[in-house]
Amino acid sequence: MKVNLDKIVSLSKRRGFVFQSSEIYGGLNGCWDYGPLGVELLNNIKREWWQTMTLREDIEGIDAAILMHAKVWEASGHVANFTDPMVDCKECKARFRADQLEDAMCGNPAYKGRSAIKCMEDGKFTEPRQFNLMFKTFVGPVEEDAAVVYLRPETAQGIFVNFLNVLNCSRQKIPFGIAQIGKAFRNEINTKNFLFRTREFEQMEMQYFVRPGEDMKWFEYWKEERMKWFIELGLKKEKLQFSPHPEDKLAHYARAAVDIEYEFPFGWGEIEGVHNRTDFDLTQHSNYSSKMLEYYDDETKEKYIPFIIETSAGASRSFMTFLIDAYHEEEVRGEKRVVLKFHPKLAPIKVGVFPLVNRDGMPEIARNIFEDLRKYFRSFYDDKGAIGRRYRRQDEVGTPYCITVDSQTLEDQTVTIRERDSMEQIRIHMDNIKVFLNERLNNQ
Ligand code: GAP
Repeated sequence: MKVNLDKIVSLSKRRGFVFQSSEIYGGLNGCWDYGPLGVELLNNIKREWWQTMTLREDIEGIDAAILMHAKVWEASGHVANFTDPMVDCKECKARFRADQLEDAMCGNPAYKGRSAIKCMEDGKFTEPRQFNLMFKTFVGPVEEDAAVVYLRPETAQGIFVNFLNVLNCSRQKIPFGIAQIGKAFRNEINTKNFLFRTREFEQMEMQYFVRPGEDMKWFEYWKEERMKWFIELGLKKEKLQFSPHPEDKLAHYARAAVDIEYEFPFGWGEIEGVHNRTDFDLTQHSNYSSKMLEYYDDETKEKYIPFIIETSAGASRSFMTFLIDAYHEEEVRGEKRVVLKFHPKLAPIKVGVFPLVNRDGMPEIARNIFEDLRKYFRSFYDDKGAIGRRYRRQDEVGTPYCITVDSQTLEDQTVTIRERDSMEQIRIHMDNIKVFLNERLNNQ
């Protein structure tokens, strides 16, 4: 089924997944707010990632500050090189990334639908100039150069500069990793495609420190592990692919790099990068800080600067990917049914509880069940409207199970449990609901 991005954006707003930032003031381009269901989905994605990483014995977590010493970004190369080429249209004043004109449109309403490439060919653009993507700000009350700091454009540097701190306090031995989830900021020239390219976003990054010479083995290992993670959380295999960076396109510090790509409605796009960053980062920070970021191997009595294998996923981009991939439309008894087929671990609401009708003691029993369940699972109580409509409302936000209390409940204390994707219903005793849900929600 071909998914239309406009439908996803509209469902996201209507059901409280994502709102435009500062909407009542006309919005702020490239920034989005997560609503009540969106924040649940995002937290579930981050929790799954965090657990996958830090339940391992060889990975520690950290949470570094967003603002870092300005020297960090000189050492990392971001001050000099984290730029995109930008052109301005002399006529309509629109601004474009010079290397991404293929999918850009002319900003002049008079030429609606005209490709920006045509404008370039007609000589309407300025010469490209390099534009640094880092947001600058100032520490302290005086806006002077000495106090310039940047909002981090990636979380990775917070890990590199803490390499020795984590090594010393955790007593890890190489190979080991450090994982971090956090906000990153990039002043993208053109934001586009909903959450795909935004100015504020979240990353889930893990840097794995290895012995030089073993780097390619670990690069292959992490590439496979990361692809497995997306598939195990339900993304369709046929919509995923590896896209290796050709040798002549590798970043100056990388020995190998591969993107994990998803086939979005607008084409294939990167959701995560796996990079062999060599010893570049620790060498740079050693040189700029004059603190040697080395590892001493007590078995071989060798000292060396470890190589780094990086896994770098966007939490916000993964959010959009899981949302699009889960979106499903079908016809049921002549009516359209929209279902978000989230993996149960990601679903924002786990269970809906309904009385069939609002009389004969059914609401009281349903309410008791809900009060009990909500201590353990994110639950939703609904007694409004026809039962079919209540099921559809939960389907549309991806709730895996709905429980209904009906007249038979009054006789034998059983309830129906309806499964979202198959719409099949079974009856179970009220006392067994928690065990049933625990098995289905946590063990898949
Ligand atoms: N530390 C390496 C690094 O940051 P990257 O390829 O620039 O590598 C990694 O970014 C991931 O971060 C991307 O695969 C994507 O998921 C996410 N990402 C990057 N820029 C983004 C943006 N402007 N908006 C949303 N997500 C972004």
